[in-house]
Amino acid sequence: MSAMREIALTVNGQPRRGTAEPRTSLVDFLRDALRLTGTHVGCEHGVCGACTVLVDGEPVRGCLLLAVQADGARIETVEGLAADPAQLNPLQAEFVRHHGVQCGFCIGGILMSLTAALRDNPRPDEAEIRDTLAGHLCRCTGYQGMVDAVLALVAPPGGPARPGEGSAR
Ligand code: FES
Ligand code: FES
Repeated sequence: MSAMREIALTVNGQPRRGTAEPRTSLVDFLRDALRLTGTHVGCEHGVCGACTVLVDGEPVRGCLLLAVQADGARIETVEGLAADPAQLNPLQAEFVRHHGVQCGFCIGGILMSLTAALRDNPRPDEAEIRDTLAGHLCRCTGYQGMVDAVLALVAPPGGPARPGEGSAR
């Protein structure tokens, strides 16, 4: 076994420390050392997106980044989106309302990618939402409920329409 390394980072606003081998991925460190199991591990080679977390505000595949590379970084995971499971944030609530989640395996990564995308562009159109979702595999939903959830969040019924906006659905 390789020598363990001490890692200190900020996770969901809280300073956290742990030890990991140099070969340990960030997602394994989050799940195993810090017990943050909302971020899932699927393909383990950068394809499915289930492991996506935000590193210094940018979406990153947690299976492709080593924990030691994230030493000192600011990490956001799905656990940081809602203060408690009974109080989902608005994006999560729309996902529930529009059946954007079924088994939930993909959802932590998808919510984090959408969170980053919505910070960059708070009013995405359907094509832009689908472009973000294209980085993620979901075997259950067919994605339409996810698209509907984000559209409901950014342009609620009866709310102000986007300039030139027309439903492509
Ligand atoms: Fe990281 Fe699939 S587990 S992209
Ligand atoms: Fe099951 Fe997406 S909800 S994989």
